[in-house]
Amino acid sequence: MNFVRITLVAACAIAAPLAMGQGAPKLKVGLMLPYTGTYASLGTAIENGFRLYVTEQGGKIAGREVEYVKVDDESDPSKATDNVNKLVKRDHVDVLVGSVHSGVAMAMAKVAKDTGTLLIVPNAGADAVTGSMCAPNIFRSSFTNWQPGYAMGEVVAKKGYKKVVTITWKYAAGDESVRGFKEAFEKGGGQVVKELNLPFPNVEFQALLTEIAATKPDAVYTFFAGGGAVKFVKDYAGAGLKKTIPLYAAGFTTDGTLEAQGEAASGLFTTLHYADSLSVPRDATFRLSYAKTYKLQPDVYAVQGYDAAQILGIGLAAAKGDTGKQAEFAAAVEKARIDSPRGAFTLSRAHNPVQDIYLRQVVGKENKLIGVASKALADPARGCKM
Ligand code: BEZ
Repeated sequence: MNFVRITLVAACAIAAPLAMGQGAPKLKVGLMLPYTGTYASLGTAIENGFRLYVTEQGGKIAGREVEYVKVDDESDPSKATDNVNKLVKRDHVDVLVGSVHSGVAMAMAKVAKDTGTLLIVPNAGADAVTGSMCAPNIFRSSFTNWQPGYAMGEVVAKKGYKKVVTITWKYAAGDESVRGFKEAFEKGGGQVVKELNLPFPNVEFQALLTEIAATKPDAVYTFFAGGGAVKFVKDYAGAGLKKTIPLYAAGFTTDGTLEAQGEAASGLFTTLHYADSLSVPRDATFRLSYAKTYKLQPDVYAVQGYDAAQILGIGLAAAKGDTGKQAEFAAAVEKARIDSPRGAFTLSRAHNPVQDIYLRQVVGKENKLIGVASKALADPARGCKM
């Protein structure tokens, strides 16, 4: 079934007063996430994180009991407009939360802009969402694709590498991650000599790995995530390349994947806005409570889901529970310091996190913190007129 509507709490919210507290109608949250396909585990982690925050608030945001309406978007941009329109026009959700895939999120942003529905993006990094498509009612709790790529470009340039090959999926996330990397790496004196890619979500890497071996670059930069990242890291090691050509990656390539990647991931350096050994007090309580609730260790996607709910809580408290009061919502979120497990962050004028990007290294089953690769990195928000 393509469209799964699961109403977890019976809907009874009609036209009731929007005062905070007793008698307020339920808050309908439309979760549009992948629950099947290569990004399925990412969607689940985001939902887990979101629900954890709501549960910590007693199941309510700004005094309104939360009701979830869920859609499996299958990470398929061709179905995204229909899916999001069903949530907005059929289910009348108060807020949209989604998605993981950049192409899906861009379709959501278009509908959010056209209909004025509040949208919080808990993963997808599409630069345009907080760039040319930026809007007062669109917020992101995650990153732009540019951010971890740019930070890694600086790291690899500082290591003195001169010639790099990039390899990724051919869609916005891969393209923009490579563009961010290239911008910083070439500014630092390096050169991207070849950009290799394959269609999302293909995992037939062999021909491209053979091309890397023949090109003999100093290093390789990559972006993959979810199931595809597991296979890529294993294939890279299996082809014998890990021993001869160092691999650097956006942190999604090793986040939430280490159990499945095993020894093939050991030693890899990545850049991301989260790591496993942060000394952030909020992270310690978050990790404990996530592990207790789900019998799982959290990853970056769980953090982004948790922070999406925090952003909703901050904005809606200022709007006294009324999602129609968007100016009050935005003003509160724009001046907030969000107390995230990743470390506190603020939102840029385009509503994207301004955040530290960490350098991590895979040690055992952890993305161990090595240091801060880029302090309080803000996306350039190219094309945002807000
Ligand atoms: C994206 O499509 O934007 C994306 C997907 C998975 C991880 C990171 C980014």
